[in-house]
Amino acid sequence: MQPFVVISALTTLVYAAAVPTCDENFIVTTKVTQSYWRATFSCPPLNIQGLSFFHDYYALIDQIEADSDVKVIVFDSSAPDFWLGHFDVINSISPELSWDSYWGNVTRLADLPVLTIASIRGITSGGGAEIAASLDMRFGSKEKAVVAQPEVSIGVVPGGGGLDLLPRLVGRARALEMVIGADAIDAETLAHYGWLNRAIPDGQFECFVDTFARRVAGWDHEGIASAKKIINKQSGFPTTAEWKEGSDAFASNFNRTVVQNRVAALKKAGSQTDVDFEKNMSELALQYTGPGPWNV
Ligand SMILES: *[C@@H]1O[C@H](CO)[C@@H](O)[C@H](O)[C@H]1NC(C)=O
Ligand SMILES: *[C@@H]1O[C@H](CO)[C@@H](O)[C@H](O)[C@H]1NC(C)=O
Ligand SMILES: *[C@@H]1O[C@H](CO)[C@@H](O)[C@H](O)[C@H]1NC(C)=O
Repeated sequence: MQPFVVISALTTLVYAAAVPTCDENFIVTTKVTQSYWRATFSCPPLNIQGLSFFHDYYALIDQIEADSDVKVIVFDSSAPDFWLGHFDVINSISPELSWDSYWGNVTRLADLPVLTIASIRGITSGGGAEIAASLDMRFGSKEKAVVAQPEVSIGVVPGGGGLDLLPRLVGRARALEMVIGADAIDAETLAHYGWLNRAIPDGQFECFVDTFARRVAGWDHEGIASAKKIINKQSGFPTTAEWKEGSDAFASNFNRTVVQNRVAALKKAGSQTDVDFEKNMSELALQYTGPGPWNV
């Protein structure tokens, strides 16, 4: 994403030391059985969606596509407080990887004859929440799953497909609430809205997801593949043109001076470096309303 590259050049020197970059093994894949895989986001504490996320995500999709045995894949996290974090606005990411390759690969995964499940026991925000929304289903811990689309609070819009996926998942009014309210939303509300398939008490969560995945992994592959193909066709996954409208709006808004100043202020306040800041981002964002100047 070009605008991020510009910002990065200005800020990398100041922040690089404090931000874990996880150059490799962002996603650790475990074959629980030949047909049931786990893909674990493993860049704690925040699982910020950076270069290695995109690299590993597309490589994993290659692996899934090439394997005729896998039928179900559960995406979870090794970070205690976060599932997948928001897009990395500090370290530069090649636009080829984060931008040009993005929607084609998201669509490729959605089209594969494999059931994909987001297993969420922490916070997911921004681009991370959009990846969750692009998977086939989402289970969340009742106590721990929290979702936020904070983009509008910064002055941009969700550029990773959220503007197209959310209305399909939760309807127009709730998509507007999630995107324009830009607030953190709890698991029970998310389940009520239809963003989560279910909110499950945390004590039963792992067992529920594991039992569900093993159940699916036992079915005939052709049945899973046909059901997914036809349900996808009837429900309609966002097209590339639809996604591009949102991603272009993100990019042009990101270029605005007020947005660049706000992002710089958020970074100074602890975005991507301070776990408490990231946990409380939807409250703290209220300090950066208006035209500034903030404490940059
Ligand atoms: C997926 O990502 C890879 C790596 O960036 C890229 O070469 C490929 O074209 C992408 N696939 C699609 C379908 O966009
Ligand atoms: C953002 O600004 C840069 C530098 O002025 C410009 O080259 C680029 O085209 C702009 N991008 C968008 C999407 O407006
Ligand atoms: C979150 O931020 C708000 C606004 O600054 C503050 O009042 C509140 O104490 C913070 N909560 C936590 C848990 O840090």
